[in-house]
Amino acid sequence: SLDISKLMKQTGFTTLDYGFVNTAATKSSITYIDGDEGILRYRGYPIGELASGKTFLEVAYLLIYGELPTAEQHADFDQRIRRHTLLHEDLRRFFDSLPRDAHPMSALSSAVSALSTYYEDDHDPHDPESVELQTVRLLAKLPVIAAYAHKKSIGQSFLYPDNSLSFVENYLQLNFGLQSEPYEMNPTMVRALEQLLILHADHEQNASTSTVRLVGSTEANLFASVSAGIHALSGPLHGGANEAVLQMLRGIRDSGEGVQRFVERVKRKEKGVRLMGFGHRVYKNYDPRAKIVKEAADDVLQALGVQDELLDIAKELEQVALQDEYFIERKLYPNVDFYTGVIYKAMGFPERMFTVLFAIGRLPGWIAHWREMIADPQTKIGRPQQLYVGPTERHLP
Ligand code: ACO
Repeated sequence: SLDISKLMKQTGFTTLDYGFVNTAATKSSITYIDGDEGILRYRGYPIGELASGKTFLEVAYLLIYGELPTAEQHADFDQRIRRHTLLHEDLRRFFDSLPRDAHPMSALSSAVSALSTYYEDDHDPHDPESVELQTVRLLAKLPVIAAYAHKKSIGQSFLYPDNSLSFVENYLQLNFGLQSEPYEMNPTMVRALEQLLILHADHEQNASTSTVRLVGSTEANLFASVSAGIHALSGPLHGGANEAVLQMLRGIRDSGEGVQRFVERVKRKEKGVRLMGFGHRVYKNYDPRAKIVKEAADDVLQALGVQDELLDIAKELEQVALQDEYFIERKLYPNVDFYTGVIYKAMGFPERMFTVLFAIGRLPGWIAHWREMIADPQTKIGRPQQLYVGPTERHLP
């Protein structure tokens, strides 16, 4: 790619590129995507290999530090994260101030933003020790905050993290455990969630990661940058799609209209009707993550003894869409979130928690990009141009 920004500045040219379809805002060595071939690699490793053979924390380490950890590095990283899981008691009480029906994504973002107020002395983005501490604190505390957002929404009391458990086990217990009875860990659920988190861990310059980078380019701290990223993720065209897919599938089932008629409405572009979980800005071929999730959906539902007609509707939808000229012409395939909701539902998560799970998965990617940007001497404050189309000069009467 040609770096022509200086040349364009000198010659007075500006590109108008809605949605940044053709504009690269940075160089990055974290994630590689070939959207035409359906390839996704983290630091060079194919997503399929990582999802089947690694833990989420190993992948987080890989994204953030560039290499897979040795056994010793893994143990140290894991230990440091376990040490930081507790939330300040006042932050636990912060949830009391939120309405019971607050969307868990809004609760998550607000609480992450509030983290800035607890660690005001450790904010210097150019101090490596401070960056390291912010990194570990966020990785340790985000799942706890996320679980409290869930507990708050169902009116149950919060549990304290149990640091004898792994990252994913701890998260499940915090969500589904009760103070009155021990929580029975299901290994199928642990492995499936581990895999789903890995699949979401990074996706280069998507809207939420670009938000994290843009906010971070002002040298705002990591908590503030990630909080903004969580809000960006919440939209239904981005991370919120996993929740929207389930709503769509349920709508098709409950209305009794059938898959074919729903697809016709999508093709007519009826207001507000899209095939959620389909299409991607970058993939013009099958999303490699969707392939893995689709296979996992059958296995997980079977292992958990769950039958869900929404999975059957999703498969039928996919089949109909993939044979339809509208979708073929536009290269619309299922994306990662077409099947994730069905799995999260089988695990017992309410729909409003689906995007929160995406956020936990994406956190290592956000951190890796924020750190890459801060360390890059080429980084400048993000400041897009505009083409002014308003009135020319005028004056008050
Ligand atoms: N259903 C029906 N038609 C669609 C869909 C869809 N899901 N996605 C795109 N199209 C159509 C558009 O109407 C447009 O048609 P046209 O050329 O006749 O006008 C064409 O395909 C191109 O679509 P754009 O909106 O220009 O594509 P863009 O790259 O801007 O959008 C996006 C990508 C936002 C993901 C889009 O495909 C979409 O809205 N999908 C549904 C929401 C979704 O699943 N989001 C999750 C994305 S992945 C992620 O964040 C994990």
